[in-house]
Amino acid sequence: MVLYRTALITGASSGIGAAFARELAERGSDLVVVARRAGRLRQLARELGSEYGIAVEVLTADLTEPSGVARVEERAAAGVDLLINNAGMGTNGHFANLPVDGEEREVRLNVLAVLRLTAAALPGMIARRHGGIVNVSSVAGFQALPGSATYAASKAFVTSFTESLAGETHGTGVHVTVVAPGFTRTTMSGEGAGVPGFLLLDADRVVRAALDAVERGSVLVVPGSQWKAIGLATRHLPRPLLRAMTRRLNGAG
Ligand SMILES: NC(=O)c1ccc[n+]([C@@H]2O[C@H](COP(=O)([O-])OP(=O)(O)OC[C@H]3O[C@@H](n4cnc5c(N)ncnc54)[C@H](OP(=O)(O)O)[C@@H]3O)[C@@H](O)[C@H]2O)c1
Repeated sequence: MVLYRTALITGASSGIGAAFARELAERGSDLVVVARRAGRLRQLARELGSEYGIAVEVLTADLTEPSGVARVEERAAAGVDLLINNAGMGTNGHFANLPVDGEEREVRLNVLAVLRLTAAALPGMIARRHGGIVNVSSVAGFQALPGSATYAASKAFVTSFTESLAGETHGTGVHVTVVAPGFTRTTMSGEGAGVPGFLLLDADRVVRAALDAVERGSVLVVPGSQWKAIGLATRHLPRPLLRAMTRRLNGAG
């Protein structure tokens, strides 16, 4: 049985989002795939359509632009059974040295697009008493991260927002889940270059963990036992100790 008839996935043109598209196509869902690179989305739509016999709509949009978000909001409000807020970006460097426009774009994509698309999709799901929302966060959101201040804060928002919504939607027939991966082999992590192998996850594994969590009705999932242990530690260590540790990791002494 197909659990979710239509799934809208942001950031489906590569990495974790493309893996969501493939896994959901295999499970029989029709898809709406969203990103900026139209060519990649069309290619994915052709492949998945012919391999799995599903319908795939391509929606090209820049989710840092209000007009791009508005087009996707319209589609989400028209009715999707599963919304996957996956598109994201991360800047690196000390905040004082980074152009603030880039930091603002990061907040628009990682925070505001998630908020607006959730607002567009959720009321209809609650009215139909059926639906799911998966927000892709990161273990980076569990603690301060000097060198990635905006990214860590944006993911802390995504995790907290989703956990609150899970409380609000309890008993409505709508499942809201946040997945918080560690380093995953994608373009965002430079395919994991320089990351010790035991810490690296495959996008497929992240996606299976997230979709299993949706089916179980779990609210927060950290894929991989190594990252579960790290995530558990970072959520329970005293904050001053954590801040000292992340400051050292960042080379700030
Ligand atoms: N890789 C990791 O180590 C890791 C770890 C934890 C969490 N995550 C999270 O996982 C999610 C997916 O990242 P990924 O690792 O799969 O990276 P990725 O391969 O770089 O994919 C990012 C996706 O987001 C889309 N995107 C970027 N900017 C966009 C914009 N302005 N408007 C619309 N779409 C945009 C990209 O498509 P276009 O370029 O075609 O627009 C692409 O499809 C992100 O939320 C990220 O924070 C990643």
